Parts: sequence; C-alpha cells; structure tokens
Amino acid sequence: MPLVLQLATEADAERSAQIEKEAYAPNVFNSILFPGPFPEPTPGENPRVTELAKQLREDSSTRWLKIIDTDLDPTEDNKQMIGFAQWNINDGSELPAGPRSFGPGCNVEACEAVFGGLHGARLKYFGDRKHVPRELTGKMVELRLLHVDPKHQRRGVGKMLVMWGVEEAKKLGLPVFLQSSEDGHSLYLSCGFRDIGIHSVDSPLVSAWQVRADAVKRHVPLQGTASVPPGQKDFTGNVMDYEEGADLMREPDAAGGAYKRYDHVQYHPEDLKGKGEPSYTIERDLKKGKKRKD
Ligand SMILES: CC(C)(COP(=O)(O)OP(=O)(O)OC[C@H]1O[C@@H](n2cnc3c(N)ncnc32)[C@H](O)[C@@H]1OP(=O)(O)O)[C@@H](O)C(=O)NCCC(=O)NCCS
Repeated sequence: MPLVLQLATEADAERSAQIEKEAYAPNVFNSILFPGPFPEPTPGENPRVTELAKQLREDSSTRWLKIIDTDLDPTEDNKQMIGFAQWNINDGSELPAGPRSFGPGCNVEACEAVFGGLHGARLKYFGDRKHVPRELTGKMVELRLLHVDPKHQRRGVGKMLVMWGVEEAKKLGLPVFLQSSEDGHSLYLSCGFRDIGIHSVDSPLVSAWQVRADAVKRHVPLQGTASVPPGQKDFTGNVMDYEEGADLMREPDAAGGAYKRYDHVQYHPEDLKGKGEPSYTIERDLKKGKKRKD
C-alpha cells in the first residue's frame, strides 16, 4: 500500500497551499468570493503559506496530517505529499479559532456571508450556549482543512485523513465537528458523520455578486452602467462609440439605436424604455401598490 499517513510540519505548508489551490480551483464560487484584483505578491512570499504556518505555530490545538504516496518520485519538490488535513483538538483550555479575515481582492460582503455565517454556526454548536452541557463547551475535535491533489482524488486519501480525527476523538471521548463542502459531503457521511444544519446564502445576493464578479473578471458591463469608456473595446471586442454622458436608452445616436419612439404616442419623462402612456404610468403605479386615479 503506497499511501502513508504522517504528521505534517511547517515545512509542508507550501505544498499544502499548492494542493489547496488546485483542489478548490474548479469551485464555481471562487470567482464570487475572490474576484481579485489581488495586490502584487512580495517575491518569494505566499500569504497563504504564511497564514497556515502562523496557525500551526500559534494555536497549540492544531494538528497537521499529510498523506504521502511512496510510489511517487521523492526528489520532486515535496510532490510525494498528495493530501492534507488540519484537525484542531480543542480540549476546552483555549477558545476555538476565530473567524477568518479578508484582504484586498476578496468580496468581503460575500466572504462574510459565507465564512462568517459558517463561523456563527460553529459557535451555535460549540459556543457558550445553554443547550450545550457545560463540561462540553468549547471541547471538540474539529476538522478545519481537508484537501487532496486532484490528480490523486478518489483513492481513499480523504478518508484516511478524516478517520485519523475520528479515531483521535474516540480516544479522547470528544464530539467531532466539521463543516462540509459539497465535494466532501458523501465522504463524511461514509465516515459516520450526520448532518445537523445547513448554511445557505440568499440567492438574489449571490446573483448580484456574480454580476459584480463578471464585471471585475470578464469586464462585462454592470447592468445599466457604461463601464467601458468611449472608444474602448467591450468584452466582445466591439468598440464602444458614445460620448460620456449620452443617454443610451433614448438618444438616437446610441449604439444599436435607442428604444423606439412613435410620434403619435406620449411618453412620460421617466419612461426610459419607451413603453408609452398610459401603460408606463399604470405599470409604475401597480408596482408601487398604488390605486390608479382616473
Ligand atoms: C473532498 C476531498 C477531500 C475528497 O478527497 P478524496 O481523496 O477524493 O476522498 P476519498 O478518495 O477518500 O473518497 C472520495 C470518493 O472516492 C471513493 N473512493 C475511494 N477510494 C476509491 C477507489 N480506490 N476507487 C474508486 N473510488 C474510490 C470513495 O468511496 C468516495 O466516494 P463518494 O464520493 O461517493 O463518497 C477532495 O475531493 C477535495 O480535495 N475536494 C476539494 C476541497 C474540498 O472540498 N475539501 C473538503 C472541505 S470540507
């Protein structure tokens, strides 16, 4: 059996960060949560590696585990390491780790909703709450990180890393807690976990963040806003031909033409899309919940 479980050390932080990046790369929420742009990294410094190493050094409840594939070339830059987990053994002497903070390049609002919300859920189960027996408050074995090199997934690496913590918790007589991604859910169920709650984020909010992320990453104009300056190309390659301040809804020289208007129809001054009267006023009043006055 070429898969071997070992304790990981600070020297493995860089490979862990690399595996983490590759394992989460296909996640559709990346572009929403971390749209960038990110500050230029200081040469030779990876902020994620620094953050991971700090956690290991400063939080004595942290345990790092790695899986080594002994069939892989040992000389290749720690590439024998194909999976990583961070478990925290909270014996009650320390407060469980706090929420993450989010720097430039992150959509702070989205990150707070997702990760801040998840942190709130942890506190609900393990904080100083009346329904948690006093002797258990803050005492738990918690899986905080788990990622496996995508080239080596579905070989049982994830399960070995999860079961280490489960066995440890059994020895200590402590409950085990984790927060699952969609990818990990069936693995955790097969390791004996059961669902105790679901954290979800409002879908209109997610749609709004997606629009913002597309604007930053793919240069798609924000809805209703000209984000491409006159004379520059839009995301499809068309040169935007308008003067700053032009009303693209109504002015006849707007690219692609303005909303069509007819001589015999009256238009309300706020009727940007050319619905005409009385339709525009009726629809507006209905939307406002007003009764129409004849
Ligand atoms: C979730 C994750 C850690 C799982 O790692 P993994 O090494 O693929 O996990 P395992 O191989 O132990 O199990 C995964 C699946 O492969 C199956 N499997 C295990 N060994 C296998 C084998 N030899 N042949 C075929 N399938 C196998 C397992 O039964 C399991 O199936 P399931 O998904 O239907 O339950 C990995 O997909 C990952 O890194 N995802 C991105 C990051 C992430 O979401 N992490 C979880 C954070 S909570």
